[in-house]
Amino acid sequence: MDAERLGGGRDEPAPPGGPRGQALLERRRQAVPRGVWNSTPLFADRASGAVIWDVDGSQYIDFAGGIGVLNVGHSRPEIVEAVRAQAERLTHACFHVTMYEGYVAAAEWLNRRTPGKHAKKTLLVSTGAEAVDNAVKIARAYTGRPAIIAFDNAFHGRTLMALSLTGKINPYKAGFGPFPGEVYRVPYPDPYRNPFGEGTDPVDGVLAALDRLLLSQVPPDRIAAVIVEPVQGEGGFVVPPRGFLTRLSEFCRQHGILLIADEIQTGFGRTGRLWACEHEDVVPDLLLSAKSLAAGLPLAAVTGRAEIMDAPGEGGLGGTYGGNPVACAAALEVFRLFDETDLLESARRVGTVVRERFASWYDRFPLVGDVRGLGAMAALELVRDRRTREPAAGETTAAVRLAWERGLIVLKSGLYGNVIRFLAPLTIPDDLLRQGLDVLEGVLADVAGGQ
Ligand SMILES: Cc1ncc(COP(=O)(O)O)c(C=O)c1O
Repeated sequence: MDAERLGGGRDEPAPPGGPRGQALLERRRQAVPRGVWNSTPLFADRASGAVIWDVDGSQYIDFAGGIGVLNVGHSRPEIVEAVRAQAERLTHACFHVTMYEGYVAAAEWLNRRTPGKHAKKTLLVSTGAEAVDNAVKIARAYTGRPAIIAFDNAFHGRTLMALSLTGKINPYKAGFGPFPGEVYRVPYPDPYRNPFGEGTDPVDGVLAALDRLLLSQVPPDRIAAVIVEPVQGEGGFVVPPRGFLTRLSEFCRQHGILLIADEIQTGFGRTGRLWACEHEDVVPDLLLSAKSLAAGLPLAAVTGRAEIMDAPGEGGLGGTYGGNPVACAAALEVFRLFDETDLLESARRVGTVVRERFASWYDRFPLVGDVRGLGAMAALELVRDRRTREPAAGETTAAVRLAWERGLIVLKSGLYGNVIRFLAPLTIPDDLLRQGLDVLEGVLADVAGGQ
């Protein structure tokens, strides 16, 4: 890609959004509520691989992938062709009215490729939050127990049940209560901001907190499930210490509590394995996938032990669009790519390049308080002071803005909004990856210079 044609050179930043973008922005302000958040003011026109063009023809390297949805790249020709062919044959039927093979084939693949050799079944829905809601329904139906345990700083989506499991008030929960009850919360084992205090083992802390919860708040025979992100996504790419998932899974087994792994952001190769749970060989009872499952078409899944998935009665699960044929066709093509190409190897390679580069920035910029990640799920946490770890939220916002002014789309995350995360397509070519990292390095140098 030609560096000159990026959203703006370093010395001459093009105002993002030329006249067409500006006009659309004004229309958007009038027509769309402010609650619908935008991380950049850009209006996309088209995209390919890891590049997005805006409506004024400026070109951006995409380190966001539509929030982790484009692991196989934007508008990959095989996916486009599968979608086109399916749309010509059958766009919608509603699986409850007339069945079609794509739904069954997608379920079969997920049953086969999710952790565990036992018999499994899969429910398809349209969004990640819907998968979360359905997992709660299924877990309650199977166990006959009402309560769910979730983690601080978790993100599970924006429907009311998913929000009640989400552990961050602003902006997700503010003003939207009351939330569905019977949700109990324990800290997540964050190695950088250890909730149990410096020098303690955060995994021991979580297990002790769980044991205390059973004594003080809710007995085990009232708890249907624990829901966990194997690496917290919106929470700031918090990678728990190795062993956490294994011990959590043992805790669940000991008390007859189901383990729900929310792999909506970590799945489909992001961490260098198909599922992040595989790093510890943990087999959850229910596994949730969405985002990169269908390369941008709305599709999400709950996959789990057959006997658990069959607990809700006939008619208890579903929806008009769940497992839409076009979305299933895209997913089947994603599955073929994972079966037949080296996407997992790409994830590991991209992850290594990114994390090595991030580590070099830790040495160079005191603003970088922590560098972390698993595979190609990599992040930088920015702080004003490495000793106090005061979050550098303003600097992070400035960095994200400077980045898009210079032709790079990145996202922030984290409880304090001070984490820059990397979610580029796993297929990003090396030169483009380096170019994007160069832009980010320049941005950090400028933001750190003003620190
Ligand atoms: C871990 C996790 N769970 C659930 C969701 C909700 O997915 P959706 O936005 O498709 O409803 C997200 C979205 O970011 C997520 O990262």
